[in-house]
Amino acid sequence: MAQLAKIFLTVLFVVKTLSSGCNEKWKTIVKTGKNGEEKYGSKRDLVNHLVAGDDIRFSLNNGTYFTSIQSAILTGNENVCVQALFHISKSGYNNFQSDAYWWFLNVCTSGHVHMSRWSVGAHTDRGQTKTTYDITWFARSRSCQTQPIFCNLETGGRKCGDVSLLANSVLNGASVKVLNPQNGYITSFTNIAVSGDGLSVAGQYPWHVSQSTVNNHVEFQSNVYWWATIWSTTGRLEMSRWNVGEHTSRGKSSMNTPMEWFVDDCWTLAYSHNSSGHETDGSLDLLVGAVLAGRKVRVKMGSYIVEPENLYIRNGHVSAQLLGHLSKNTIFDFQTDVYWYWQIVSTTGDVETVRYNIGSTQNRGNSADKQAISWFIETRPWSNVLSTSSTGSVTHGSKADLVTSVQAGFQLRLVVHEAVDSFSIIEADNIAIENSEVAAQSIRYISDENGSSGIPRRFKTPPYWKFSLTSTDGNQRAVWWKVGEHTSLPATTEKYPVDWIVG
Ligand SMILES: *[C@@H]1O[C@H](CO)[C@@H](O)[C@H](O)[C@H]1NC(C)=O
Ligand SMILES: *[C@@H]1O[C@H](CO)[C@@H](O)[C@H](O)[C@H]1NC(C)=O
Ligand SMILES: *[C@@H]1O[C@H](CO)[C@@H](O)[C@H](O)[C@H]1NC(C)=O
Repeated sequence: MAQLAKIFLTVLFVVKTLSSGCNEKWKTIVKTGKNGEEKYGSKRDLVNHLVAGDDIRFSLNNGTYFTSIQSAILTGNENVCVQALFHISKSGYNNFQSDAYWWFLNVCTSGHVHMSRWSVGAHTDRGQTKTTYDITWFARSRSCQTQPIFCNLETGGRKCGDVSLLANSVLNGASVKVLNPQNGYITSFTNIAVSGDGLSVAGQYPWHVSQSTVNNHVEFQSNVYWWATIWSTTGRLEMSRWNVGEHTSRGKSSMNTPMEWFVDDCWTLAYSHNSSGHETDGSLDLLVGAVLAGRKVRVKMGSYIVEPENLYIRNGHVSAQLLGHLSKNTIFDFQTDVYWYWQIVSTTGDVETVRYNIGSTQNRGNSADKQAISWFIETRPWSNVLSTSSTGSVTHGSKADLVTSVQAGFQLRLVVHEAVDSFSIIEADNIAIENSEVAAQSIRYISDENGSSGIPRRFKTPPYWKFSLTSTDGNQRAVWWKVGEHTSLPATTEKYPVDWIVG
């Protein structure tokens, strides 16, 4: 069965890949120097990729540190600044510091780098560094398309494209980015919804830290807050601001602005089931095969679509943690007193929802539910370049191939073999290379456990952030920080077999 699924998968992806150009590779676009000079390639080219909705990554420290970005802004003169927020303080390439802080990066093609450090679970400034770096910038084209699928005016009227095409793509699993053409700000979404009448689309993104313009570049503000946004095709931009590390509001507001919407439609339906977990389309084997092959997943419940932060396979069922959601009133606006709305959804139809005030330990109520879910998988090819055993020995591929792929800008996903029939699938938020070893840090994970009564996985109570560092030497170190408070459990080190999959 697994073999059959694999063959089916291969055929499917070949067909899809040939038909829609979902085979674009990461490329080095430009290398910028400490004074913003172009050492290779052109900054203009990077700007062109950004305004076409393409994915961007960068590396620092002479090809030993790599990370994804969460948002970008054009700062004029062909320069851009990006936020890379997904990093928790480390001591050495494969270990954590004992007193964890966020290490937020604001990195610009002008060479400027601002590091802003804030305790995890407390509003405590742990120091700032303003410096300059040599930076290598990578991009991967979305597809052959470079145009937005829809553009709205400030009033919500149409400027280009077709909103129903956008809504259709969203309902078919496409991921979406939005560009504000007035200030050159670009973000993707952690969740997106289509309105009941099918005429509007609204996307949410919580991962942005307050910043301001300084001369020709951008820096974090000195007293930082999370700036969460909801963008909608009605022209409305809704903003909710919360101090980093505590439940203190810095204000909620909204404005109207023009927007350009870009879709990445390199996604296809793998499986859907009704609320009792019975197949209605596709196949569970196909989904499980794709997840174990490293492919990204998007899940759809009704007209609400989310990209999971991490996935789990237990006893042949897939569970997904959906963490990038702050509580909403309607699809278009936030609640005033915002809480995290976290879910674990499974192919059994089980949906667990937990709610905690942002920046606090206060629980706002939990619930359990059964829902019909559609599971989409990315059609882009991913490649298992290395497998390591629990002692760090190579059982497939080579560490050199992994290093080469990472240095070419590839993304990295890990399939961690936790038990015979249990796999945790995480994405590297940042990657460090030391000598010939690689360590992947993954931070978007809330402590979970096996469920009972046929439920594959559920959240633990009280919840802890599980920040992990998985290294090709065979160790997975994890630190556990309580949600909403600056306290932790003892750090752990596990030894698991791991598949290192690049894409
Ligand atoms: C950067 O790395 C290359 C090879 O990876 C090496 O030859 C070079 O000396 C390094 N440069 C610095 C400044 O460390
Ligand atoms: C789900 O599908 C199964 C098999 O067709 C059916 O027996 C069951 O009643 C369905 N559940 C719901 C809630 O529709
Ligand atoms: C969780 O379930 C898996 C598969 O059923 C099993 O192998 C594993 O030992 C369980 N873990 C714990 C901590 O019970």
